[in-house]
Amino acid sequence: MALAKTKEILEKARSGSYAVGAFNISNMEALQAIVAGACEMHAPVIVEVSESASRYMGIELAAAMVRTLAAKSPVPVALHLDHGKKLEVITKAIKAGFGSVMIDASDKPYAENVARTSEVVAVAHQAGVAVEAELGRLPGTEDDITAHEREAFLIDPDEAADFVDQTGIDFLAPAIGTAHGAFKFKGEAELDFERLQKVMEKTRIPLVLHGASGVHERLVNAASQQGMELEGAKGLDDETLKEAVAGGINKVNTDTDLRIAFTTAIRKVLRDMPTVFDPKKILGPAREYMKEVVKERIAVLGSENKG
Ligand code: G3H
Ligand code: 13P
Ligand code: ZN
Repeated sequence: MALAKTKEILEKARSGSYAVGAFNISNMEALQAIVAGACEMHAPVIVEVSESASRYMGIELAAAMVRTLAAKSPVPVALHLDHGKKLEVITKAIKAGFGSVMIDASDKPYAENVARTSEVVAVAHQAGVAVEAELGRLPGTEDDITAHEREAFLIDPDEAADFVDQTGIDFLAPAIGTAHGAFKFKGEAELDFERLQKVMEKTRIPLVLHGASGVHERLVNAASQQGMELEGAKGLDDETLKEAVAGGINKVNTDTDLRIAFTTAIRKVLRDMPTVFDPKKILGPAREYMKEVVKERIAVLGSENKG
């Protein structure tokens, strides 16, 4: 198959009330793990490249690798630019063949977010590329904020309706209480489902959940056993994630879980086999572990057998 259209995958997910996994890559092994996992689950999948990952890999090389694997894949594989901030990078992604781009101006005042997002929509739509934008803000990894501050970061549903109307975006990422990274919640995972419902009623386009990694205890334990320091790490449990999908989320972003799996497996090989220096033997198990994580995520999202 050629690269799939993100918009088609997500419109289908919206009508079928499930979510598609969107997984970040910064190397070949992560990409292979994601596509192999999606194939084994017969699920559509979105491969995401962040701005910093695009600098690390080279945006054309990243696009070429994804296109090559998509061509051989029996399931739809789409390519998306994650958290695009600079118009220059967004334009490069469009030229490189990405099917969708995110413009993230969520840290800017509302009017500026509208203006920047509209500018990207004009460029992207002309090239047949779909656009995701974010409203409200996700606190960054380990940001130490109070409950009151967190509340102020969340999306305003009335603003969401106006934002979608004014900008013409294709997918909206509403801030409903998640955070990026491995330290999302101090206590129980709490998302604002009432807010999500209002956004869903008022916008009627596919919704995206950022900062959705599970950071499950078993993943953290496996990492800790290999000497990784993750004390206090906490992600989104599967039940809460399922509730978010039932509440209208159609695209779920995962990066941190794959990063932890990758690093854990590499640490294990290096600790257990000090004589090994063949990169294939070091990175192969990391690829396998990431694939298992991808499959677990897809099972939770309900996109198994939807490819
Ligand atoms: O949501 C952010 C992603 O995890 C990408 O992070 O900019 O470090 O590649 P990065
Ligand atoms: P996590 O840090 O929870 O994996 O979130 C990733 C993400 O939102 C990428 O855009
Ligand atoms: Zn994100």
